[in-house]
Amino acid sequence: MSKIPFGPTYDEMLHPEKLEKAIHEKAIKAKINELDPMNLFNINWKNENGEVHKIVLPKALTNVDANIVVMLGKYFPSGSHKVGPAYSTLIEGCVDQTIIPGKHTILGPSTGNFGIGVAYICNLMKYDAIVIMPDNMSKERYDRIRRYGAKLDLTPGTESDVILTLERTFELKKNPNYRSLAQFELLPNYRFHRHVTGLSAVEAVKGIGNGRIACYTSAPGSAGTLAAGDQIKKAFPEAKVVAIEPYECSTLMNGGRGQHRIEGIGDKMCTLIHNVLNTDFVCLVKDDDAVRGLKILHDGEHVLKEAGVTHEQYVAMRELFGVSGICNILGAIKMAKYLKLGPLDNVLTIATDGFDRYPSVLEDLQRRYLETVDFVQRRWFKEIFVETDTCHILDYRPDFMKEKLFKQKEMDWLKFGYTQAYLDSMRKMDFWDDEYEKIHHYDELIRKMRVE
Ligand SMILES: Cc1ncc(COP(=O)(O)O)c(C=O)c1O
Repeated sequence: MSKIPFGPTYDEMLHPEKLEKAIHEKAIKAKINELDPMNLFNINWKNENGEVHKIVLPKALTNVDANIVVMLGKYFPSGSHKVGPAYSTLIEGCVDQTIIPGKHTILGPSTGNFGIGVAYICNLMKYDAIVIMPDNMSKERYDRIRRYGAKLDLTPGTESDVILTLERTFELKKNPNYRSLAQFELLPNYRFHRHVTGLSAVEAVKGIGNGRIACYTSAPGSAGTLAAGDQIKKAFPEAKVVAIEPYECSTLMNGGRGQHRIEGIGDKMCTLIHNVLNTDFVCLVKDDDAVRGLKILHDGEHVLKEAGVTHEQYVAMRELFGVSGICNILGAIKMAKYLKLGPLDNVLTIATDGFDRYPSVLEDLQRRYLETVDFVQRRWFKEIFVETDTCHILDYRPDFMKEKLFKQKEMDWLKFGYTQAYLDSMRKMDFWDDEYEKIHHYDELIRKMRVE
């Protein structure tokens, strides 16, 4: 049996404490040098005490009774949890022997964080990488990809032009030495989030409110993160899973396909790996509310203080979120109101990355609004966090609503060569459960085939 690069199994990503003690210790020491390959063993949601990185938002900020619990992706190696699907897709390819070290160059179609994850993982696992992404994303993203040694292949546009990156990847893949880590299509992304993120979410709410999850909100880019909802529902069958979309690009809600400012989400499609059977609601958030909300959380200490947020709470939150994290939080607040949740109920959501990759977005906000001083921010705070409305939420539980999502998926994927029969097989939960069960097969092979 040939050897594959050294890295964790799915179960070790969920339970890093199950790693061999020496490896676990080495991985923790490696955190000071991000390009140390031992950081592969830091691909998990946990801190050094084995607790999920999370924050419960102050109610003075959210203005709802329910607890809004945010899991924090910025602590993953490379600065976002997207490194998890990048690693999982690469390691499954290694195990399946479809990706051979020294032979294959890795393609990462992305609007940023997945590309950063691919560049990072390929650096650690010694593969050449090309990241295919739109040419108008935040500057911080390109800098990081270059720093990790990957090449960039830029297509025109922004977040909502991700389809062009897929078309470009489709062309490049004709080269037999190229292998694509296709996050929108390949199920390791689903497996990582269902197992690692989903079960970490179940742990994250222990001791908060009633210890259950009443609602999970996640704005899909690839819809990988949304897959955590499948496992959350197994633990808490009452949980509502909500896909958040930018108001300006409401593809799942009504086929909307506009440009928007929330990097990482709203990619004008129903992705192939999106299990729409478990999407209970679709909810829209205005893109500039997410950007202005980020400004308040990052720079609006005065305004937050007036609302009752303490200095310590402000400092603790300041660097934790990017624009899509704020979007997920605003979606969580909307849903807490819509579902009339109480103080024992938890709404869980995700901040994919932290503030470090968005200073340029706030500079742009400053240029657009000219004035972002306290009295302006006070008005924004009231509009965004206090008077949050429950408009633009649609119930997708009825069959005829699900049908809309199936049809959207057909429109998006038949053209890439997937058959109607394959798409039809995704209409049954068995398809998703069978795919999920493959983690055991992959974990066994990873353990057998890895070399130190
Ligand atoms: C900043 C950010 N937020 C949210 C997402 C969406 O995550 P997912 O692709 O798992 O749906 C991404 C995906 O790249 C992202 O980069």
